[in-house]
Amino acid sequence: MNKRVLVTGGCGFIGSHTCVELAEAGYEPIIVDNLNNSERSVVDGISAIIGRPVKFIEADCCDPVAMEKVFSENDFSSIIHFAAYKSVNESSVKPLEYFKNNLGSLLNLLTLMREHNVPNIVFSSSCTVYGQADKLPVTEKTPRKEATTPYGLTKQMCEDILKNTAAAYPQLKTIALRYFNPIGAHPSALIGELPRGIPNNLLPYVTQTAAGIRECLSVFGDDYNTPDGSCIRDYIDVTDLAKAHVCAVNRMIEGKSKSGYEVFNVGTGNGVSTLEIVKTFEKVNNLKLNYKIAGRREGDIEAIWADPTYANEELGWKAVRPLEDTLKSAWQWQQNLARKK
Ligand code: UD1
Repeated sequence: MNKRVLVTGGCGFIGSHTCVELAEAGYEPIIVDNLNNSERSVVDGISAIIGRPVKFIEADCCDPVAMEKVFSENDFSSIIHFAAYKSVNESSVKPLEYFKNNLGSLLNLLTLMREHNVPNIVFSSSCTVYGQADKLPVTEKTPRKEATTPYGLTKQMCEDILKNTAAAYPQLKTIALRYFNPIGAHPSALIGELPRGIPNNLLPYVTQTAAGIRECLSVFGDDYNTPDGSCIRDYIDVTDLAKAHVCAVNRMIEGKSKSGYEVFNVGTGNGVSTLEIVKTFEKVNNLKLNYKIAGRREGDIEAIWADPTYANEELGWKAVRPLEDTLKSAWQWQQNLARKK
């Protein structure tokens, strides 16, 4: 059995944690990353955790020549495709860049997979494909809503590309994992999230505020139709999320896929509000966070959380790390970063 896995975007937040989980499950990750939004030092963090070197190739997944070389010089049976642009706001300002990069990389990989007989691919999708669902929690059968940003549209389009390509080529196996909100860091605090500039996402903003890098966290809205008025999300520990990728690769390699294109929700099943995150973060880390209630952020949905039953039963995967531990790990990682600087 070929246990080598090409991990595009393997230096990124979810990609790096997945490389660790793959290695610990007996796989050999081969990282391809163009370091557009990540750092080379992440490879050292991964190697330190797994206790052996990990192969790293600096290349852009949209570059057909560079990627042809990657495919012809390496022998792998599966791909996990993380490499993509991920800023919701930026995607509305630079839609063409988002379409070119996020669609182009997938098309390139699928073409090369056919030429080199690589059968399996796991794709990073997002709960953003559901928009504001009419009924919560969302299952994989919940209808997708029309995308409101180019970023969300690229996720939907990539899912459709996989579905239609798999329908035409029976040897191709594809799995889209719809991530909810990944947070936290590896328990070793050797890898974690590395946002550039001012963070858009909640947790990096929280940890940077706690560290004094940001003055004050704005909680976007307390007038939503939720118990405490702030938005609700399904925050999933990044190591738990990483393990779902190992289960997805196992499933394809072991021939357990039920069809060429499968979709799984990767969430905890718990809806947690922004204010609950703030309060739990303060409590478990024994600190006070400077925060204020601000107006709603445009484009935010009120509430979403997963029904992860299908992933639990079919993938044999379940989120297990308690939110408290995850929030502690996020703070440990932030403190480690401060020490390094
Ligand atoms: C969004 C996308 C998700 C994408 C992710 C990556 C949607 C529905 N979700 O997640 O698909 O993968 O970005 O960037 O489009 N918040 C604050 N103050 C802050 C930052 C955030 O109150 O400074 C609140 C937000 O209003 C939201 C929650 O925290 O309710 C989580 O926000 P964020 O971490 O940005 O993730 P999403 O917007 O849920």
